[in-house]
Amino acid sequence: MSEKKLTGEVYFPPKDVVKYANARCEKLYESASEDIEAFWASEAKNLFWHKKWSQVLDDSNKPFYKWFVGAKTNIAYNCLDVHCQTPRRNKLALIWEGEKGEFHSFSYFALHRETCKFANILKSLGVKKGDRVTLYMGRIPELVIGMLACARIGAIHSVVYGGFSVEALHERLEDSQSKVLIVADGAWQRGKIIELKNIADEALQRAATVESVLVVKRTGHQINMESGRDMWYHELMNLPIANNSDCLEVVDAEDPLFMLYTSGTTGKPKAILHTHGGYMVGTYTTLKYVFDIHEEDRYWCAADPGWITGHSYIVYGPLLNGATSFLYEGAPTYPYPHRWWQMIEKYGINILYTAPTAIRGLMRFGDAWPNRYDLSSLRLLGSVGEPINPEAWRWYYKVIGKEQCPIMDTWWQTETGMFMITPMPCTPLKPGSGTKPFPGIVADVVDEAGNSVKPNEEGYLVIKTPWPSMLRTIWNDPDRYVNQYWSKYPGMYMTGDSARKDEDGYFWIIGRVDDVIKVSGYRLGTAEIESALVSHPAVAEAAAIGLPHEVKGNAIYSYVILRSGYEKTDKLLEELRLHVGHEVGPIAKPEQVEVVDQLPKTRSGKIMRRVLKARALGQDPGNLSTLEE
Ligand code: WTA
Repeated sequence: MSEKKLTGEVYFPPKDVVKYANARCEKLYESASEDIEAFWASEAKNLFWHKKWSQVLDDSNKPFYKWFVGAKTNIAYNCLDVHCQTPRRNKLALIWEGEKGEFHSFSYFALHRETCKFANILKSLGVKKGDRVTLYMGRIPELVIGMLACARIGAIHSVVYGGFSVEALHERLEDSQSKVLIVADGAWQRGKIIELKNIADEALQRAATVESVLVVKRTGHQINMESGRDMWYHELMNLPIANNSDCLEVVDAEDPLFMLYTSGTTGKPKAILHTHGGYMVGTYTTLKYVFDIHEEDRYWCAADPGWITGHSYIVYGPLLNGATSFLYEGAPTYPYPHRWWQMIEKYGINILYTAPTAIRGLMRFGDAWPNRYDLSSLRLLGSVGEPINPEAWRWYYKVIGKEQCPIMDTWWQTETGMFMITPMPCTPLKPGSGTKPFPGIVADVVDEAGNSVKPNEEGYLVIKTPWPSMLRTIWNDPDRYVNQYWSKYPGMYMTGDSARKDEDGYFWIIGRVDDVIKVSGYRLGTAEIESALVSHPAVAEAAAIGLPHEVKGNAIYSYVILRSGYEKTDKLLEELRLHVGHEVGPIAKPEQVEVVDQLPKTRSGKIMRRVLKARALGQDPGNLSTLEE
């Protein structure tokens, strides 16, 4: 990008970074815009294919796009085996630190060995290509090994975030019809144990398809082991089960790799489906260029592997690039707000990728905590999950990056699989803007009719070209896939976000236009919270909304109509909050539950959350013509 005059607050990338990032990023935009398919094909050639594709993109059955048609590969093979055939074999693939300070690391060789062993165990339990396996754990290496083992044998993994609870897990087990559940006995969170196995036992009483439960010992507290169903991971891993790599299943590029549940506009969470080939090319390419991964880098994505950020940029992207990925189990501020900075110094982390909510949370404790540590190993910083407010951006840039590290504010989604709107190391930055689409991506902001809006006008964010790591469908619900993403404007992918584009063509994300609430960067649906509330005997009807929150970005507020016979007491309101926590997960617990007599609805009975939101914020609710009498 040329240094033409840009409007607003602009930060030019430090010269050293640009030099290091080499000239490659500047040329990319050009080559990608000339021929998108050729661009992705040239990137794909850096990966290993057991059989080459006959066609890069098949768009004959839109919106069911196919990429690298006819090719055969396996993403886990590319993550591990490929590196094991080179000197990278002895390089660290994964470094892990536990909340209590324990440390463990895996070379590519070791991670390959553990993955193969576990893949053989899964096979011996009857897991076959196409079978679904659910994983429910904290941030521990076994989660990474479990995902890679599934991928290796062509099973479809479905990771359920360890912060979710009984009903959320049940729903996901049931919808995916998982045969095997891999769970940890517990997870450490701020010195306390989250009893994952107990939660799973309760969810399993509601779900019938699971035949085997493999339990990873992490916390070591007392749990129930159901005979014939539950088995210890460490005991199985010690069996003389073939440790060979013959377990590899060479799959079709378009074969499913994983499903990941996410919240949408209405109803139940939907399982977004990603495939081996396209997802591999997308995550490999974007991480390589945007975070400018080099051989000697230690890279830390502080997300949870249970969300898309962890899938793409803790596990697959870094391993495909042969990088060293760091994984930390605990919370940023436990036991003190020094923890992250201490680990950056200790491990010499070069790239840190996190969410605005974490930055705001750490910023609150002041500069003294980071200033106690040597953070000079950092070269690049990243942000994801929600818009970053300029104040947090500047703090991150100055206090953490010492004005030497550009911030890659990456906009993307579970559905996109990879970064879509993001700077590159060479991009002049504006705090709060994700800058421009990644090479090969055409994004736009459009009005109700689908026409591009003028600079600085707000509109719907859409993507106008297919990309390799795009979702292929919603598991078991292709109609919902078409309706939700492709029906509003033919040929355009509807992101669900509103945005504006400034006079320099920089994108500014405003927020969701649907009923998705981003709480601390976690994606939740109003429907999940509402259905948890109405599953309580005291609640007749419920509505949930997100309201701005200083640290979390958004916080959940909920409104309930009580059934007759129930009285509004503080005890009941607290019980309802806890009930949501128990059913969906602690992150979904409403900040406040308010009892009301009526909820604003349209004549067709749809709750008008916008009216509730306006009322709570003391704003004008706008057009009320569709409001029921
Ligand atoms: C929001 C997370 C502003 C956005 C990778 C999107 C962002 C949703 C950014 C997807 C960003 C993500 N700036 N907003 N850099 N990154 N979002 O599926 O609303 O958990 O639609 O994927 O997060 O959330 P998801």
